[in-house]
Amino acid sequence: MSQIKIFDTTLRDGEQSPGVNLNQLEKLEIAKQLERLGVDRMEAGFPASSKGDFQAVKAIADTIKNTSVTGLARTTKSDIDIAWEALKGADEPCVHIFLATSPIHMTYKLKKTPDEVIETAVEMVAYAKKKFPQVEWSAEDASRSDWSFLAQIIEKVIDAGATVINLPDTVGYTTPQEYGNMFQFIRSTVPNIDQVTLSCHCHNDLGMAVANSIAAVENGATQVEGAINGIGERAGNASLEEIAVALKVRSDFYPYQTNLNLQEIKRTSDMVAKLTGMYIQANKAVVGRNAFAHESGIHQDGVLKHASTYEIITPELVGVNANTLFLGKHSGRHAFKDKVEELGMDVSEDNIKKAFELFKQLTDHKKEVTDDDIFTIVTEVQTDTTSIEKYQLKMFQLQYGSNNIPTAAIELTTPSGNSVKTACTGQGSVEALYTTLDSLTEEETKLIDYQINSVGGGKDALAESRVQLIVNGKTVNGRGSAQDVMEASVQAYLNAINRFIIHQNTEKKKTVKSN
Ligand code: KIV
Ligand code: ZN
Repeated sequence: MSQIKIFDTTLRDGEQSPGVNLNQLEKLEIAKQLERLGVDRMEAGFPASSKGDFQAVKAIADTIKNTSVTGLARTTKSDIDIAWEALKGADEPCVHIFLATSPIHMTYKLKKTPDEVIETAVEMVAYAKKKFPQVEWSAEDASRSDWSFLAQIIEKVIDAGATVINLPDTVGYTTPQEYGNMFQFIRSTVPNIDQVTLSCHCHNDLGMAVANSIAAVENGATQVEGAINGIGERAGNASLEEIAVALKVRSDFYPYQTNLNLQEIKRTSDMVAKLTGMYIQANKAVVGRNAFAHESGIHQDGVLKHASTYEIITPELVGVNANTLFLGKHSGRHAFKDKVEELGMDVSEDNIKKAFELFKQLTDHKKEVTDDDIFTIVTEVQTDTTSIEKYQLKMFQLQYGSNNIPTAAIELTTPSGNSVKTACTGQGSVEALYTTLDSLTEEETKLIDYQINSVGGGKDALAESRVQLIVNGKTVNGRGSAQDVMEASVQAYLNAINRFIIHQNTEKKKTVKSN
């Protein structure tokens, strides 16, 4: 079995999905979960792109110790310097530099000749290598580049010090055979290719990202880049969980293995979906709600007689149903803390205290508290931003019924600390609530998407609402959970506006130091 490295870009390429704007606490929690999942390298962000991203990459580089941490940079000295400031605390700092190599990008975007592109790439890789022990260089839009030009530039950037060469299918245009052939060509043409890790990075515009990545592996790629749940620009990146499970389940056919702890897949997927606000469809391979459900009688009958008749992946393999029932109402803080540690979570005493309070509240109305419930509670506490939230809900009241005009009354504390209240009507209860919130908040908002779900099953389940808003021209996701669906809906709307304000403030406050 040859070893395939997994490079996770959920926090960088994945975070480029519309509306996704993770704050530092959320990024750090996802990073810790990626470490538990066992990815070999994680791309924590693009430090020069914003002050918020710089801070998040720095926090991750300073905290994560069992996984190599990298950050993206354009081919400029200042991007590389800023990346160094963010990453120098990592155990093995790595920078990921990219420059486009396709005729279409070089002509229209970069406005550079091929020779100028080679010169810039070589110069910047050499510059980065003076600081970073690990330098990944990506030929952006490699799949639409001229192969002999690719071979030429790759040889030179390896000589300049690159340790990883990545050949992205940036626009999701390639096919498995074509992409595989490109890897074959590069391996047989570039004389120094054996000195580096050869990496693939696929986008899913034609729905072939996973197949293309596996084709690259079959043709010599030893690192696969992708994102959890396949999130990312446009149609997203290759889903890492699908690739890892495909290699495992078809190990009779594929002689490759990864370091992933597959049982952490479901939890990682759930956390990413929750914190990014990007739900996955029920029929999504490996992690969708229906991935292990058998609907037709013939299938159910077969599975009951012998699971392998229709089940090629066991739920346990990816951590579904691995849920052990946890303690109840009478469990003490000590047992709770032990459980949190057993889940691999690193939590301060203060947050254990807060999480334990929430756990106690949950046991008041939920009989069976599971590992997943504990995981959700602790994640909530670890990523809680209420202490810095700008608008806070003081109270809301809603009147609606089949013969009523829905009317909402809401009282809020505003960012300047004032208390404001008003009441408005709407065609429906959600409209009444959101119109009232609009008249109490200063920001210009437009609702793009609204969803409501239950967390787990049962009538007593928590309600979770997610919204996507355009706030002052910027797309932002928000989420809220409460026992009541309407309260969850109010919280989600306010959360989106608060995220917008917090993001604006972070960008204003910090000036990035580079030298
Ligand atoms: O898809 C792409 O080309 C990228 C690069 C920045 C590596 O994400
Ligand atoms: Zn990409």
